[in-house]
Amino acid sequence: MRFVDIIEKKKQGEALSEEEIQFFIRGYVANEIPDYQVSALLMAICFQGMSIDEITALTTAMLHSGDVIDLSSIDGIKIDKHSTGGVGDKTSLSLMPMVAACHAKVAKMSGRGLGHTGGTLDKLESISGFQIGLSEAEFIKQVNEIGIALIGQTGEVVPADKKLYALRDVTATVNSIPLIASSIMSKKLAAGSDTILLDVKYGEGAFMPDSASAEELASTMISIGKKLGKDTRALISNMNQPLGDAIGNALEVKEAIATLKGEGPSDFMELCLGAGSVILEQAKLADNQEAARAMLLKTIEDGSALAKLREMVEWQHGDVNQIDHPETLPAAAMTIEIKSREAGYVHDVKALELGNLAMRLGAGRMVKEDPVDPAVGIVLSKKVGDKVSLDEPLAVIHSNQTLTPDWIEDFYQTFVINEKEAKPVSLIEKIL
Ligand code: URA
Repeated sequence: MRFVDIIEKKKQGEALSEEEIQFFIRGYVANEIPDYQVSALLMAICFQGMSIDEITALTTAMLHSGDVIDLSSIDGIKIDKHSTGGVGDKTSLSLMPMVAACHAKVAKMSGRGLGHTGGTLDKLESISGFQIGLSEAEFIKQVNEIGIALIGQTGEVVPADKKLYALRDVTATVNSIPLIASSIMSKKLAAGSDTILLDVKYGEGAFMPDSASAEELASTMISIGKKLGKDTRALISNMNQPLGDAIGNALEVKEAIATLKGEGPSDFMELCLGAGSVILEQAKLADNQEAARAMLLKTIEDGSALAKLREMVEWQHGDVNQIDHPETLPAAAMTIEIKSREAGYVHDVKALELGNLAMRLGAGRMVKEDPVDPAVGIVLSKKVGDKVSLDEPLAVIHSNQTLTPDWIEDFYQTFVINEKEAKPVSLIEKIL
């Protein structure tokens, strides 16, 4: 087999065989096929697309390029959830303890943030002492005993994706549904859970620009899951404005704790209840979403979800005092209120720009090697649909440096306010 023929075939819009796809992934991981040839194939895939059979073969080849985690020694149905990434997305911190308190088994590997999106591991590490690196034996023991562990990646999971993603990033080939779907699904399948819930976000702060493309990506990933015998469902959710009010690591942990006390922002709570309802159905712990929702609300009312978070933090060597007293989480040197320069209704709160502004404060990374400052970030006081008066606060900025006039001006540009009434954004567009 010659790789140049595979490139030519895809360039002509023909479907690649399973053998050709395996040859591609094996050869690339073994450094036998050079980046310039793989770049050409990736670009051909971007233009010509792939059938579901091809995407499934690509996902399978990528999945088997590295370690596949074996969770079979954990009793019960192991659930997993993946968000395609957004601004202020602290869902795992609240949702996973909620479903674990309903007896779902959560053995979850999470990632770090890059660019305008945050990562669950960075958020968890704002809790003093919290260990994200457990051995496989410790991970399995913890999930068997308390039902939940949130850790960083163990072993070498999907090395093909690491190489391919780095190449896609510099060859303008990230934005292709077959490549995104195979990248996400290979990693989720390698993580070893029994069920997968995908939160596919669309809008300004997300990968997919609109709900139609998010639905196409979600349907593609569900089809891959089905073909590979994994119960896969998806939410389509709006990411035009940040999720909840807080953006920034410790600030998001505080918001997640408040949510577990029933005191969180309503849009974030709605996402947790919507996602949790599907997860409990998948885990066969509830007969329908209505029953699941009641179970999830009960974990907030009786404190069992918060107790589950506390238990996980204790097992992973974090300071539980910070869960009991969130005011002791890392705090920035300054808090600055930004007041509205106009009166009216909020029509837009631009997620991507706010994610970038939080990154400029130090909350996120520009490149993978950057450190993050756990204390800094933005807490919004107004969201889309809210009425705002002149001089009313739009947000509180938590910073370890004086805000520059440029930063403040850029912040004002993230709010679109006018005198016409605006409707609040409905977050979950669809459940597939
Ligand atoms: N997230 C991934 O893991 N892979 C992609 O290709 C895009 C988003």
